[in-house]
Amino acid sequence: MGQTTERLYPDRVGLARATSLLRGGALVAFPTETVYGLGADARNGEAVAAIYQAKGRPSFNPLIVHVASVAAARSFGKLSPAAETLAAAFWPGPLTLVLPLVPGAGLSPLVTAGLDTVGLRVPAADVAHRLLHAFDGPVAAPSANPSGKVSPTTADHVLQGLTGRISAVLDGGPCAVGLESTIVDCSGTPTLLRPGGIPVEQIERLLGHPLAKAGDSAPVTAPGQLASHYAPAKPIRLNAMAREPGELWLGFGPQAGTADLNLSATGDLREAAAALFGALRELDSRPGTAIAVSPVPERDLGRAINDRLRRAAAPRA
Ligand code: TXA
Ligand code: MG
Repeated sequence: MGQTTERLYPDRVGLARATSLLRGGALVAFPTETVYGLGADARNGEAVAAIYQAKGRPSFNPLIVHVASVAAARSFGKLSPAAETLAAAFWPGPLTLVLPLVPGAGLSPLVTAGLDTVGLRVPAADVAHRLLHAFDGPVAAPSANPSGKVSPTTADHVLQGLTGRISAVLDGGPCAVGLESTIVDCSGTPTLLRPGGIPVEQIERLLGHPLAKAGDSAPVTAPGQLASHYAPAKPIRLNAMAREPGELWLGFGPQAGTADLNLSATGDLREAAAALFGALRELDSRPGTAIAVSPVPERDLGRAINDRLRRAAAPRA
């Protein structure tokens, strides 16, 4: 934070600069045909944590992973026959497909908020395509606006909200579509999670049947709540200062020297955010009756970490 934000242009020099910033774990906003995205290397947990920090998002929602081609998408998500049909028709374009995650593909668990599905998209905008091609890896990107503000469709909008909080914005002019991608969950029965740039009617005509709607089986109140939340099988005990018999202890900070795992021994919130979902999964797989978690300060990324820990600790049906 407090950094200068570079405005880059999509010429050879600007694209090379954007690519090297992304490789170094920095945040670069870039234009897609829908809205500007706030991009980070999807394999780098701390870079992904920095996205939440820059946006001031109080919770971890799964992020869309942007790739250059359908072939690249296949290395991160498993495409069902319906997903293949939609990808062939609408990629590159303003469609996001939620797919079962390919295990071991190298995405940070923070990108999927610990879920075993991943939202993938091949954007059509020329600048996005050239950036993804040059970077040659998966780019996690939510819309490039501070949490609670409208999505940006020009580089000036991005700078108005995020100057000093990100390394650069790649200025490719205004976005052609101007509203977010349509999201279809193809991890089971094809289900509409969010209407957007591709009309639902076109999708339904192509599939030959109506899409299930996210609200059909569970109430949905806001886009951020569309995704189910990752929760470990073991009960979670919050604000633990020590381990009780049978428990596994997930520590935070130097006070938790004897913890089974420590989110960050130095108390660094970005490191802790990057480690959170992987650590919960790891402890869930070890023998023990419960997972006790050290207190995490309720500031900066700590708010999002605590939000997820509280959800994981909440009684389940
Ligand atoms: O057009 C767009 O989609 C833009 C550009 C930048 O690509 N991105 C965007 O991202 O709108 P964001 O973070 O503002 O919205 C992403 C939505 C969230 O509501 C999230 O819950 C959903 O996608 N999503 C992502 N991965 C998911 C998953 N595995 N399961 C369910 N929902 C997912
Ligand atoms: Mg958004």
